[in-house]
Amino acid sequence: MSLPHEIGRRRTFAIISHPDAGKTTLTEKLLLYGGAIQVAGAVKAKRGRASAVSDWMEMERERGISITTSVLAFPYRGLQLNLLDTPGHADFSEDTYRTLHAVDGAVMLLDSAKGVEAQTRKLFRVCRQRAIPIFTFVNKLDRPGRDAFDLIGEVESVLGIGVYPVTWPIFRGGTFRGVWHRVRQRVYLFDKEHATSSSTAGAERPPVEVTGIDDPAVKEALDERGYDQLRHDAELLEAAGDGFDSAKFEGGQLSPMFFGSAVNNFGLEAFLETFCELMPPPRARPSDQGPVEPARPEFSGFVFKIQANMDRAHRDRVAFLRICSGKMVKGMKVRHVRSGKDLRLANPTVFMARDRTTVEESFAGDVVGLHDTGTLEIGDTLTEGSSFSYEGIPSFAPEHFRRLALVDPLKRKQFARGIEQLAQEGTVQLYRPPAGRTGDLVLGALGQLQFEVVKYRLEAEYGVEVRVEAVPWQLARWVHRADGQPLDPAALHEAVEGLVVLDVRQRPVVLFDREWALRSAEKFHPEYVYAETASGVVVRGA
Ligand code: G4P
Repeated sequence: MSLPHEIGRRRTFAIISHPDAGKTTLTEKLLLYGGAIQVAGAVKAKRGRASAVSDWMEMERERGISITTSVLAFPYRGLQLNLLDTPGHADFSEDTYRTLHAVDGAVMLLDSAKGVEAQTRKLFRVCRQRAIPIFTFVNKLDRPGRDAFDLIGEVESVLGIGVYPVTWPIFRGGTFRGVWHRVRQRVYLFDKEHATSSSTAGAERPPVEVTGIDDPAVKEALDERGYDQLRHDAELLEAAGDGFDSAKFEGGQLSPMFFGSAVNNFGLEAFLETFCELMPPPRARPSDQGPVEPARPEFSGFVFKIQANMDRAHRDRVAFLRICSGKMVKGMKVRHVRSGKDLRLANPTVFMARDRTTVEESFAGDVVGLHDTGTLEIGDTLTEGSSFSYEGIPSFAPEHFRRLALVDPLKRKQFARGIEQLAQEGTVQLYRPPAGRTGDLVLGALGQLQFEVVKYRLEAEYGVEVRVEAVPWQLARWVHRADGQPLDPAALHEAVEGLVVLDVRQRPVVLFDREWALRSAEKFHPEYVYAETASGVVVRGA
């Protein structure tokens, strides 16, 4: 197969949602449809249930949650779907955001009773910054939920994105009866009995082909009230909505919306069909030498995540690489742009959840795991010889802060080395006092569990026991001068009511203990810019 053909059939995406919206369930159903797994329940990591697919680390097995970002690659209708899992629940971390830099599109999953929730909003913002296409799937329609127009209004106003409903829920006697596919002019009827007895497909009765909603078949399926409601909704949609604009969709400004029930396999076919039609293949990626087209024959990619000790028996460290152009072949020699050195890709691996398979070749759009002995860092570019670098992955303002107290003071050296390495790896953010000042090391994270991972790894890998202690900080902002001049940490310290520290890349950060302190700094010291993300610094090789 030719390179453009292989790349053209890659679809690399993530599901963004708030915990409990049904992401695990939807992931599992997609894998079932794709034939990648045979039994329902294989993905779901459950306490006490053996072999949950994504539990790599002992720690997550104990907790029944997933710490890692797994990559699920499976073929579907001639396409190669790469679904990157974004850790949610308590294991929400910077990796969740970083993963969104490695995808070409996202599926936003909403609970129909809850609408847009906090975590969805945060994840959506990262997708928005990258202007990637976003599909919306409204889940749990089998239960009483919110009015569909209400949900559309919320997505439009809270997230600032247009919505184009592709399917629309229909009701009989107030109970969910199915969906009307506006584009195909078909009605899919929901058959709860059938749904619960089948774990794979067929929960939706064969779609009733209709000529429009005036078709007698639609009337027959609904009661009078339900039918009147549908007519009314259809008129409103017609009056309110413009047609589907694919340029807006591809630029992340218009989201096709679907309604269904993941656990009942309902509405998934209609969703998948349109997903496969609309979701674009990999596109050009920005680099310091201009955009790089995926079909450029030369291999290149960037590291978006490093996972240490996925398998304690091997004590290995795996760097996840998103291939952005060309083809990667097992054993090939590549240039590590930051150091200028060459590396050999001995065992590139694809991760089908628990299984690891060595791959002979992978293409732009794919994600592979590379065994690493400490050379690679998040944001690093690998090429076949060129020296361009992909735009780095930004750091995101942490929302939780802690201090680590060393239990045995004689272990200070190991502690310093361990914490530095973990911070470089991106496990947690590390802040130090600027030169000339003394003070504690402060750790920052997006999810509380990151601190526990640090504690666990310091003990397991560096033999250092620590206590995790509370600090008053609530917010962090990277600060630079609005006029572009170099920043003097001492002057900043005088100006703001917060703690001035430096991150691992020596960038000035202010930690605030209240929202109010940040607002007041913004108001009274506009000579500084207070940023929620710090752009990934591209460090060039010699
Ligand atoms: P998450 O990964 O987003 O956190 O959500 P997950 O798939 O674990 O789903 C959260 C709960 O919502 C699960 O119930 C799941 O069965 C349920 N769920 C998912 N899709 C639907 C749906 O379409 N309709 C309804 N009614 N429920 C749905 P649970 O009780 O927490 O777990 P389980 O015992 O059912 O597995």
